[in-house]
Amino acid sequence: MALLIKNIRELVQVEKKPRLKVEGSGMAKLNTIRDAWVYIEGDRISDFGKMKDIPEYGNSMGMKMNVLDAADRMVFPSFCDSHTHLVYAGNREIEYIDKIRGLSYEEIAARGGGILNSARRLQKASEEELIENALPRLREIMILGTGAVEIKSGYGLSTADELKMLKVIRRLQDLTPLKLVPTFLGAHAVPLEYKGRQTEFVDLVINEMIPQVAVEELSDYIDVFCERGFFTVEDTERILTAGMKYGMRPKIHANEMYFSGGVQLGVKYNALSVDHLECTGDAEIECLLGSETMPTVLPGAAFFLGLGYAPVRKMIDAGLPVAMASDFNPGSSPSGNMQFVLSMACIKYRMLPEEAINAVTINSAYAMGLSEEYGSIAVGKKANLFITKPIPSYEFMPYAYGSNKVETVILNGEVAR
Ligand code: NIG
Ligand code: FE
Repeated sequence: MALLIKNIRELVQVEKKPRLKVEGSGMAKLNTIRDAWVYIEGDRISDFGKMKDIPEYGNSMGMKMNVLDAADRMVFPSFCDSHTHLVYAGNREIEYIDKIRGLSYEEIAARGGGILNSARRLQKASEEELIENALPRLREIMILGTGAVEIKSGYGLSTADELKMLKVIRRLQDLTPLKLVPTFLGAHAVPLEYKGRQTEFVDLVINEMIPQVAVEELSDYIDVFCERGFFTVEDTERILTAGMKYGMRPKIHANEMYFSGGVQLGVKYNALSVDHLECTGDAEIECLLGSETMPTVLPGAAFFLGLGYAPVRKMIDAGLPVAMASDFNPGSSPSGNMQFVLSMACIKYRMLPEEAINAVTINSAYAMGLSEEYGSIAVGKKANLFITKPIPSYEFMPYAYGSNKVETVILNGEVAR
C-alpha cells in the first residue's frame, strides 16, 4: 500500500541528510518545506517535496495508493518518548493529596509509599491485567502524537515480577502500532524486606535478575534510580557493569534531587542517556560535552513534583544536545502527553519552538537508540508521522498548550487514527 499526503501547509523536521542527534546552536535549526507533499510506500517514507514539483503518482507497479489532502494542516514526525514507566497497576492519587498537604516525594517513599506502593499492586496483577491497563495509555499517547515509546520495568522488584513486566512490554508490542523499547530497571527502589540490606538487593539484581533478563532477551538497556534514598553511585556502578557484561547499554535516572555524581557515572560508562537532571551544574555540563550520552529532561516530573527546573538554556548554550520525554508514571508524572512536554519546554525552560521540537523528535529518538529510523521525515525512515488540525504555524504547537492539535496519526505507513 502507498500513501500520498498532499497540500501540506508545512512539512516539519525534514532531513535530506539524516543525523543521529542535534546539539548546541544546531538545536535551533528546524528544516521545513512549505506547501509540501510526502509519499509513503509500505511502512517507509519514500519521498517528499514541494507541491509545484510533485511527480505523477499513479498506480505504479500495481501498488494501491491512498491520497490524503492535508489542506491548512501541518505534518510532523511522530513524537518519540524516550522515558516512561507506563506499565503499572493502580494510580497514586492518594499520595498526590499527601503531597498537596506538604509531604515530599522522598518522605512518601520512606513511609513505604511511592514506588513500593506501585510494586505491591503490580506484584498482585497478572500479565493480562497489566496489558489491559496499559493498552488505553498507549492508545491515549498515540492520539496525542507519540509514535515510539520507551517503557521501563521497575515496579516488580522481585525477579519473577520484573520478568513479568518485561514480558508484558514484549506482548504489548504485538497489540499496538507504536514502536516500544523495553528497559530493565530492576534497581528502582529497595523493597521493604531488604531494608538495611541494600547490598543484598543489589546482589539479587546483579546475580539473578540481569542474567535472566539477558537469557530471555527482554531488554537491551539497563537503568538504575541513582538518587539519595534509592541507589548510591557505588550500587549504580556495580549494576551497570554487570548489565554491560551482557551487552546492555546504561540509561540512568540521575541528578533529580541531588548533585549525586550520577551524570558523571553515566558518561564514564557511555550511557545512552542520563535522565531528569534538575541538579545540573558546570561540572555536569563539562562532563557531558563531547560524550555520546544524551541529557534527557522530564518536564512533567519537575512540574508535578514542584522541583526546580533543569538548566536547559545553559546546557544548550554550552553546546549540549537535549532530549525531552514524558516520564509517564503513576507517582511523578501521570501524563504521557508530549504536546504538554513541548509547551513546557518553551514556557518553563525557555527553549525556542525549534529547539523544543528537536528535543521531542530526533534527540529523544536518539535517547532510545532509534534515531536511524525514527525522529524525522527522511527518505527510508519509518513512516511514523501525524497530520495536525488546521493550525497556522509550527510555533502554534507549543503555544496552544493543553489542547490536542493532532488530527490524523500515521504509524508504519498506515492511518492508525
Ligand atoms: O522517573 N524517579 C524514579 N522513577 C520515576 C518515578 C516512579 C514512581 O514514583 O513511581 C521517575 O520519576
Ligand atoms: Fe523515570
